[in-house]
Amino acid sequence: MGFDLQKKDFDKDFVWGVSSAAYQVEGAHDIHDKGPSIWDSFVESKKNVFNGHDGKIACDFFYRYEEDILLMKQMNIDNFRFSLSWTRILPQGYGKISQEGVDYYNKVIDFCLECDITPWITLYHWDLPQALEEKGGWTNRDIIGWFEEYVKLCAKRFGDRVKHWMILNEPMVFTGAGYFLGVHAPGKKGLKNFIPAVHHASLCQALGGRTIRSLIPDAMVGTTFSCSQITPYSKKSKDLLAAKKADALLNRLFIEPVLGLGYPMDELRILRRLDEYHRPDDEKNLLFDFDFIGIQNYTREVVRHSYTTPYLKAKIVKATKRNVRTTLMDWEVHPPSIYEMISKFNQYTAIKKLIITENGAAFKDVVSNKEVHDPLRKSYLQSYLDQVYKAKKDGLKVDGYFVWTFTDNFEWAEGYFPRFGLVYVDFETQQRIVKSSGKWYSRFLNNGVSL
Ligand code: GAL
Repeated sequence: MGFDLQKKDFDKDFVWGVSSAAYQVEGAHDIHDKGPSIWDSFVESKKNVFNGHDGKIACDFFYRYEEDILLMKQMNIDNFRFSLSWTRILPQGYGKISQEGVDYYNKVIDFCLECDITPWITLYHWDLPQALEEKGGWTNRDIIGWFEEYVKLCAKRFGDRVKHWMILNEPMVFTGAGYFLGVHAPGKKGLKNFIPAVHHASLCQALGGRTIRSLIPDAMVGTTFSCSQITPYSKKSKDLLAAKKADALLNRLFIEPVLGLGYPMDELRILRRLDEYHRPDDEKNLLFDFDFIGIQNYTREVVRHSYTTPYLKAKIVKATKRNVRTTLMDWEVHPPSIYEMISKFNQYTAIKKLIITENGAAFKDVVSNKEVHDPLRKSYLQSYLDQVYKAKKDGLKVDGYFVWTFTDNFEWAEGYFPRFGLVYVDFETQQRIVKSSGKWYSRFLNNGVSL
């Protein structure tokens, strides 16, 4: 069946956009008095990232923001989600402010507005100030005060013009990959780091929401979560139990405390260790009624019981071993996953609005005659969007969709190898080429009419 949806098939106020993140695109890593973030430090060790890649230049967005935002405009994209680099604004994480950093984001915001593009700001997309990491980073409870100072400053400097805010990007990924597995910055491992990082990130997510709302009363404030459909490997009770645990960890851990449901400790006993970090008012301080929740879905995971996996006794059966279609990230292409996640988050009736703040795919791109023909990415996006539409038609709450991502960029530990962009970037020359998926998205947003 072909894809024949257009933007007009969705509600008029359904939000369409693209997403990015500071460290993945900006470059200019040490310009002016910008301080280093944990990603600046992490990439210094060549073994941490594919082929020793780093984000020192990335897409050079710091210098090319006008060109890129103009291209968005030409492509009919009217919502741009991007993150602020904490250390561009507060080089040491707190204290001295970098006026150049503040000026830079003012220029980006003003240029978006000039182009009629609504800026959607993520306050924290994984680039913690290195100076704070040296004091323990997310494992140190003082992060609550550091984060509040940063959020207040951003609200005061940008809140007159920016009305769409997201507090954290995927806390499960930055605590899991960064503080448990050690495969992302800051490269810490083990439960002793993960457990306090989880609790402090949860407290900051709610505190950030309250701070934005109190300083920008007309703001729409949200936060974002990674989520994947979890399919048990078999109907055996051990596999069903393993799937439940994986679901608690990957999908429920950060949304439930904010809604007053507490951490999913019943399914995941290791979370009882969180009690050690609880202080008297925390229960209440974990709560916040966000205006919207952002969910980010790419794939599903098949999970089975495993005696050898510590704590969890569950493991993911890799997509590459399941004989299914995959992306360059070795993630299964499974469009119903996004429907399942919309449906799952709809069960939390307290959620007011649900926005897909990321969805997209990495495939191998080839430039030929100055064009990039990427049918796989286009069909991935179309088949996921079909499911979003189906969810909407089935009466589920879903209010927006952002593609990950606008330009190819620095894909964390995978470096520049997986390209997710609607726009191809030649990282030698910084030349941009709109891929055929990008041309399709822009036609879709223009209800079928080409540029
Ligand atoms: C998300 C993350 C993005 C991007 C994307 C693709 O988890 O928020 O920064 O890397 O995945 O892997």
